[in-house]
Amino acid sequence: MQTIFSGIQPSGTITLGNYIGAMKQFVELQEDYNCHFCIVDQHAITVPQDRLALRKNIRSLAALYVAVGIDPTKSTLFIQSEVPAHTEAGWMLQCVAYIGELERMTQFKDKSAGKEAVSAGLLTYPPLMAADILLYNTDLVPVGEDQKQHLELTRDLAERFNKKYNDIFTIPEVRIPKVGARVMSLQDPTKKMSKSDPNQKAFITLLDDPKTIEKKIKSAVTDSEGIVRFDKENKPGISNLMSIYSILENKSIQEIEEMYAGKGYGDFKGDTAKVVVDALAPIQQRYYELIESPELDEILDQGAEKANRTANKMLRKMRNAIGLGRKR
Ligand code: TYM
Repeated sequence: MQTIFSGIQPSGTITLGNYIGAMKQFVELQEDYNCHFCIVDQHAITVPQDRLALRKNIRSLAALYVAVGIDPTKSTLFIQSEVPAHTEAGWMLQCVAYIGELERMTQFKDKSAGKEAVSAGLLTYPPLMAADILLYNTDLVPVGEDQKQHLELTRDLAERFNKKYNDIFTIPEVRIPKVGARVMSLQDPTKKMSKSDPNQKAFITLLDDPKTIEKKIKSAVTDSEGIVRFDKENKPGISNLMSIYSILENKSIQEIEEMYAGKGYGDFKGDTAKVVVDALAPIQQRYYELIESPELDEILDQGAEKANRTANKMLRKMRNAIGLGRKR
C-alpha cells in the first residue's frame, strides 16, 4: 500500500479553501492509502502566535480532521511537535538546502514582504516541511496549488540528500485536485482564500454559523454582467462561487450554468450559501461532540505513538547516512 502525508497549520480556524483544496481529498484517499495527517504546529510559529490561541487552534484542527471524516483506525492523525523527529530531520535538511533556493519561495516572499522582523524560521520552513514528508517514506502528498513549489523543493532536497549521502528517501509525488485547488478570497477573487486574511469577510471558516456564511456569500465580490457563467479571467468572483458549489454539490460547471440560465446573482448566491451551510452542518455537529472529549486525546495519543515509531526509524537512517553521533 502506498503512503500519503499531508499537513495543515493550526494558525486560525481552517477555511473552506483548506477543506476543498486539501481535507476533502484526504477523506477520499484514506480508503486506498496508508495515510498520515498532521497538525503542523511548528510551522505555525514561523509567524507570531498567541500562546493560548495556538493551543486552542491545535485542538480545534484535530477535532476538525476527525469531524470531516478522517478515521483514526485507518489514518494516523498527530501533532507535529509531539513527534520530535520532525525538527531534527528538519535541521539536517536545512543543512542540505541552499539559502538562495529558500529565498525564491513565493510564500516566503509574500509573507516577508515589507516586514522588518522576519523570523529565520519563515525562511527555513520548507526544509521542515520536507522533513515532515520524507520521514514517512511518502509516495504522495495531497495539497492545494499554493504548496506546489514547496513540494518541488522537497523533491530536490530528497534527491540531493540521496546523492550526497545514501539513497534512503522515497521521492514523493504531489497531488493537486482538478477543481478547487485554489479557492479564492470572497472579497478579492484574484487572491487565494486564506485563514490569516485580516478581512473576515474574505473567507468562510468550517465553524462559521449559517447566518455568517449567508452574509459572507451574499457580500462576495462579483461583477456587473449578472450572468452565472464560468470565466476565471473575466469573472473570477462568480467563477469562484461556482467552483465551490460544483465541488460541494458534485455538479458540473455546465450543469450549474444551465440551472441558473436566466436567473440573477441573488438566486445563485442564496443557493450557494445553502449548499455551504448544508455541507458544513454535519461537520460542525461532530466537531462540537469531539472538541472537549477524551476521545480526541486518545486519538492524538495513539497517532503520536504510531508516528514516532515510523519517523524514528527514518531518523536513525538519516543520522547514519550523514555520520552523526555513534553508529546505531
Ligand atoms: P496551509 O496550512 O496553509 O494549508 C493547508 C492545506 O490547504 C490548502 N489550501 C488551499 N487549497 C485551496 N484553496 C485555498 N484557498 C487554500 N488555502 C490553503 C493548502 O494547499 C494545503 O494543502 N506548508 C503547508 C502545511 C504543511 C504540509 C506539510 C503540507 C506542512 N508540512 C507536509 C503537506 C505536506 C501549509 O502551510 O498549508
